[in-house]
Amino acid sequence: MQSPIQTYLENLHGRIAGLDDGALASYIPELTKADPAWFGICLVTLDGVAYSVGDFSRQFTIQSISKPFVYATALADRGRDFVLSKVGVEPSGDAFNSISLNPQTGAPLNPMINAGAIATASLVAGDTPEAQWQRIESSMSTFVGRDLSVDESVYRSESETGFRNRAIAWMLKNFGIIDGEPMASLENYFRQCSVLVDCRDLAYMAATLANGGVHPLTGKRALPAEHVERVLSVMATCGMYDYAGSWLYEVGMPAKSGVGGGIIAVLPGRFGIGIFSPRLDEKGNSVRGIEVCKQLSRDFHMHVF
Ligand code: DON
Repeated sequence: MQSPIQTYLENLHGRIAGLDDGALASYIPELTKADPAWFGICLVTLDGVAYSVGDFSRQFTIQSISKPFVYATALADRGRDFVLSKVGVEPSGDAFNSISLNPQTGAPLNPMINAGAIATASLVAGDTPEAQWQRIESSMSTFVGRDLSVDESVYRSESETGFRNRAIAWMLKNFGIIDGEPMASLENYFRQCSVLVDCRDLAYMAATLANGGVHPLTGKRALPAEHVERVLSVMATCGMYDYAGSWLYEVGMPAKSGVGGGIIAVLPGRFGIGIFSPRLDEKGNSVRGIEVCKQLSRDFHMHVF
């Protein structure tokens, strides 16, 4: 007999698939090749069981959903105090590409906006940018539970057009937030955004956070337990950019979105969910992804408060 969770998700998918508001991200030219109709959901419980619906195995680029996982890696490698000295944890209330830096120190307000994420990419362990990239890729792979790869055309597309991010990286160098070569850290940031995932991968990444940092199927620890609450806290307060307040108010779960159309949400101790639908609202969040989380939270009283 089919599990009630599977039946619920199939009905939810059917209800929300008709929603056709929003538009594909176009500022990275390669992202306009997505089909706006794609829509997948996957929920993974802490025993590692995955419930999947729709386009759950279609691959897309992770984009900003990489940010909490690279932040996790920097915390694991450099410790809380050092990372806090370079990147704050205050919501900016600004768009994801805003240049929100602390006026005294030049530190980005949080690791979920681009400025904070570019700084964070420069903090992971490694003597060279190549070694740092290996560290980012292998850490994200441990969260997912399989080896990941980069979509080279999306990576090139963003690298060729990301002038604003390039300016942000030079600002971070100017303020001494990035110690090394800023353009190399920026390329690692572009690469981490271009990692290919599907909804199942996202749901396992979220479930690993829900499970205190241990992947529910492989049993491997992706993050020391002490850092899990730090990552979930910045996801809760900053993960949805200038929609973060309304999101926490209405949905009440730590989450992160990406302009590829993905969203993850975490219910600590219970499950992780990954949704993919590339129609975005004006803040860069997936329209259907938000609706899935709103209905799920309402139907099962999942608001953490
Ligand atoms: O920095 C950028 O513009 C992208 N690579 C990532 C942005 C992103 O996903 C914002 N999320 N909604």
